[in-house]
Amino acid sequence: MSEAPLDSLTLEALLAQIAEADLAYHRDDRPIIDDARYDALKREAERRGAVLTEVGAPAAAGFGKIRHAQPMLSLDNVFAPEEFTEFCTRIRRFLGLDASALHFVAEPKIDGLSISLTYQNRQLSRAATRGDGEEGEDVTDNVRTLANLPLHLPEDAPTLIEIRGEIYMARADFIALNATQARPFANPRNAAAGSLRQLDPRITASRKLSLFAYARGAANVPVAQTHWQYLDSLRRWGFKVNPLAAPITEADAADFQARIGALRADLPYDIDGVVYKLDDLALQDRLGFAGRAPRWAVAWKFPAERAITRLEAIDIQVGRTGALTPRATLTPVNVGGVIVTHATLHNEDEITRKDIRVGDMVEIQRAGDVIPQIVAVLAAQRPPDAVKFSFPDHCPICGALAIRPEGEVVRRCTGGLSCPAQIVERLIHFCARPAFDIEGMGEKTVREFHALGWLNTVADIFALPDLEAKIAGLDGWGTLSAAKLSAAIRARQRIPLARFIYALGIRRIGEANAKLLARHYGQFAPWRDAMIAAQIIGSDARLELGVISGIGPSIAEELVGFFAEPHNRALLDALSAQLSIEDDTGPGENTPLAGKTIVFTGTLETITRPEAKARAEAAGAKVTESVSKRTDYVVLGADAGSKATKAAALGIALLTEAEFRALAGF
Ligand code: IVH
Repeated sequence: MSEAPLDSLTLEALLAQIAEADLAYHRDDRPIIDDARYDALKREAERRGAVLTEVGAPAAAGFGKIRHAQPMLSLDNVFAPEEFTEFCTRIRRFLGLDASALHFVAEPKIDGLSISLTYQNRQLSRAATRGDGEEGEDVTDNVRTLANLPLHLPEDAPTLIEIRGEIYMARADFIALNATQARPFANPRNAAAGSLRQLDPRITASRKLSLFAYARGAANVPVAQTHWQYLDSLRRWGFKVNPLAAPITEADAADFQARIGALRADLPYDIDGVVYKLDDLALQDRLGFAGRAPRWAVAWKFPAERAITRLEAIDIQVGRTGALTPRATLTPVNVGGVIVTHATLHNEDEITRKDIRVGDMVEIQRAGDVIPQIVAVLAAQRPPDAVKFSFPDHCPICGALAIRPEGEVVRRCTGGLSCPAQIVERLIHFCARPAFDIEGMGEKTVREFHALGWLNTVADIFALPDLEAKIAGLDGWGTLSAAKLSAAIRARQRIPLARFIYALGIRRIGEANAKLLARHYGQFAPWRDAMIAAQIIGSDARLELGVISGIGPSIAEELVGFFAEPHNRALLDALSAQLSIEDDTGPGENTPLAGKTIVFTGTLETITRPEAKARAEAAGAKVTESVSKRTDYVVLGADAGSKATKAAALGIALLTEAEFRALAGF
C-alpha cells in the first residue's frame, strides 16, 4: 500500500486504504501496514468527518455465513490505573452503587481470534468466527478438528447454549508451523486465524490450535449467577478455561495486572493484557452495552513490547505503486516471544528525523500484530563506524530514476511500465475500462498470463493473439474464449489519444488530465516530442506544458519524469508501432457542455478559475465574462453577486460547482 502523505489523499482514498488494511489484517491474516500508519489513516478520515465502525472482517467468500444470535462485541481498553478506576466509577454511577469495592473476574487477554460455539441438544452444532461482529464465517467443520474442544456436553448443560472463547496457537506450535511455511506467518494470532480459515478442514486438523472458553452467549436456561461460577461450569463440561483466571476485588486489579505482566514472556501463548469482568451476571445484564463494547468489562492492555538491537542494514523495497520504502534489517532479537529481524522505517524523512544510521543500536517496538518499528536510536552507543544512509535516487529493482515530488514524503520509481515490481498493477490499469477496455483481460487473467511469463510489458498484450492456441489450452479457457480475447485485443488497436495517455498510468494523470493533454497536443507524436523536450527547464516545451490550465507543476514533473526514463520511451515506441492512436480532434458533439456558453461567477471553492475555464473548454464549452441571453449556464461560486441576479432574471440555468463538475465530467 502506498504511503502517500495523508493530506494528499482524498477521503475516498483514505477509506479505501483503511478497508484494504482491514481485509489484509482480518480476512487474509497478513497485515500490510503497521499500526502507526493505520491509526494515522483512521484519525485523518475521522478528522474529515468519516464515521468509522469497529474494525472487523466481513465473512470471507468460501465459508457459509452465520448471523450471531447476539452480536460479538469488542472491549474498551485502558492502559493505566487511573483509567481502570474511572471504569469502576462509571459502573458504580450507572448502577447507583455506593463506594464499596466491585468484584471482578480477571483473565488474561488471549491474542487469538474469538469464536462462537453453539451446542444444540448438547452436541456441537455450529461454530462461527466473529466476522464483523454481526455475521461471521461458518467454521464448524474446522473447529471440530480442535483437540481440546468438547463435541458433546454432559447432562447438566442446557439443551441450547452458545459459548464463546478464543482460538489461539501456542508459541511453540507457531514456531514449528512457520518452519514448514514458504511464507511464514507474522505471529501466532495470524497463524491461528490462517489455520482456522482453511477451506479444507484437514489442513486445520494438521495445525495445533487450542481454545480457552471465557464468555456467555445465548442459552435457554440460566447457567450461573456469577461469571466465576459460569467459568466453573465450563470447566466441568470439559472446556479449557485459562488457569490464571481469578476472582479479584477492584483494589487488587493493579497487583494482578503486574503479576500477569511479569509472567507474560514465559507463558506458552501470546497475551496482550488482562480482561476484567464484573462478576455478578445480573449486574452485567443491567449494565448492558455502550456502542460496540460491554459496560461491565474492560481490557487493561500491556504497554507495547520493546527491545534493543543493532540495525545491520537498510534495504529498499518497491511497492506495487512504485513507492520506495526503507526497511531495517536487525540483529535478530526476541521481543515478547517473537523473533524480530526486520522493522519498518516508514520513509526517507523518518530516517533523517530520527538520525538512524546503519550500525546503530536501536530500540524497537512491537505490539501484537504490528510490524515492528524503530522508536529510538541510542545515540550514546553509536559506534564510530556507523554510516548515514543515503536514500537511493534510482529504483533498486529496475534502475529507473526515482523521484520525490515537492511536498511529498514518498519517493517513487519512474520505471512504471517497465519496472517488474509494478508491472502487474500497470497491466491491470492498462486493460481496465477507462483505459484500453479490453474485454476478458481482467485482473485474474492479467495475473495468470504474467505468471506464465507472457506479459512482461504492456506491449506484450498485443502479441497475445499469437498465443491463442496456448491460451485455449489453459484451464477454464477453450478455443472460443481464446478467440474472443484475441478479437477483443485487436479491436482495441485503434485507441483515442486521451485513453492511450490515461492507460500509461503516469502518476496524477487520471482521465481528466489525460483529456486535457490530448486536447492540447492533439496527436501522439507531437505530445511525445513535447514531453521529451520539456525535460529542459526553461525550454519552450516546458513553458507550454506549464500554461495548460489544469496541469500544475507537480503534474508536469510526473510527466517529465516518465519521459526521462529511456525504458518508458522505448516502450512507447513499441506500443505506438502496434497501435493506431487516434488524434484528438476537439470536443465531441455529445458531451453535455459541447457548444454551450458558460459564465463563472463568485469564488469557486474546489477548483481555480483558470482550471474551471480549461475544463469547460475541454468539454467543448465557450467561457465568457458577462451574462447575456446567449448564456446557457451560470456556475455559482461563493458570494456570487450581480451576475447571478441577472442570470436568474433571464431564466438562465444556474449550476453549483458540483453540478458543473458532473457535466464537465471530472
Ligand atoms: S470477553 C463482550 N475475555 O478480546 C466481550 N475477550 O478486544 C467479550 N479476548 O473479541 C469478550 N481474551 O477476541 C474476553 N478472556 C477474554 C479474552 C477476550 C481475548 C478477545 C476477544 C474479543 C477481544 C476484544
